[in-house]
This record gives sequence, structure tokens and C-alpha cells, in this order.
Amino acid sequence: MYICYHLLLHILSGMKEKKITITIQEYLPEEVYDNDKILIEKATLAAHNAYAPYSSFCVGAALKLDNGEIIVANNQENAAFPSGMCAERVAMYYANARYPDTAIVALAITAIKDGKELETAVYPCGACRQALIESEIRFGKKIRMIMAGSQKVEITSSVSGLLPLHFTASFLK
Ligand code: THU
Repeated sequence: MYICYHLLLHILSGMKEKKITITIQEYLPEEVYDNDKILIEKATLAAHNAYAPYSSFCVGAALKLDNGEIIVANNQENAAFPSGMCAERVAMYYANARYPDTAIVALAITAIKDGKELETAVYPCGACRQALIESEIRFGKKIRMIMAGSQKVEITSSVSGLLPLHFTASFLK
């Protein structure tokens, strides 16, 4: 009855619905291209150096710049929890500080929980997605996102695709 009422209201009002799709390619680790594999390996190494005494969740990020340079980082926690920072943003802010004119073209993330690599792909948090989208817009270049687990790797061609309806500077005008 409730559903019927809403369906009727929908038809009468002419209200439109939009559906949003996220496209991700899934790979087995051995199927991943060499360039992506290198980033995953570097992200995993970086995860081992994370400072995560509070969550024991160690995240590694490795990003590639348009000039070929690879920058690695990891999460940095703090006793005042919100003062900590995710691996992706540590990597991005360092990259942008060091190379302000160079776009980020790819970023791999991996995670280690209690000393063991996560089997499933690890996804960037919402705040990191929003921060990385700023880089895509700033440099006009998409960031290939490589979300890696030890048993499965998920890849998508842009961060903006991972955060539909994100906030942009256009709203500020
Ligand atoms: N973390 C990241 O480094 N990246 C993410 O995208 C999600 C979460 C970190 C933050 C915190 O140190 C720990 O993982 C647990 O949330």
C-alpha cells in the first residue's frame, strides 16, 4: 500500500530519479600490470612504517607523479585521534608541496592489520576521496586508483568516480 502510494505520487509529480554507477575493475594480484604492481609493492612497504599505535591498522600509499617520480607515505596517528592523518593525504600533500606543478596520475593503497596484509581491497575514506579530487581538478588529470589486497586488487580510472556528488569550488561562486 505504502509502495503503491509512492509509485502513484512519483508518476503524478513527474519527479525524476537519477542512478549513479561506479565502475571498478577487479583483478587477481598476478593479473595486475607491472606499473601498478610496483606501486602496490611500494605502498605495502610504506604500510610497515605507519605510525598506528591506536588502531593497529597500518595503511600504505604510493603515488605516481606525471614526471615518473613515486612518493610513498603512511598513516600518522595521534593521541588526540582527529589530529592524525590518512596515508593517502600524507602522500598527496607531500607530493603537492614538493612538486606544486606536477599532477598525480596514479595512487595505490594497501593495509596491514595486526601484522597481516588485508586480503580484500582497501578503499580510501571519504575525506581522502574529496582531497584527491581537488588534485584531479587542480591539474586536470585523473588519478588511477589502485586499491589492493593480497588476494584481490580493484582499480578504477579516477577518484571522482569513487565519490559521486562531491563538493567542488563551483558551489562557492
Ligand atoms: N586510514 C588511512 O590511512 N586511509 C584511509 O583511507 C582510511 C583510514 C587510517 C586512518 C587511521 O590511522 C586508521 O587507518 C584507522 O582508521
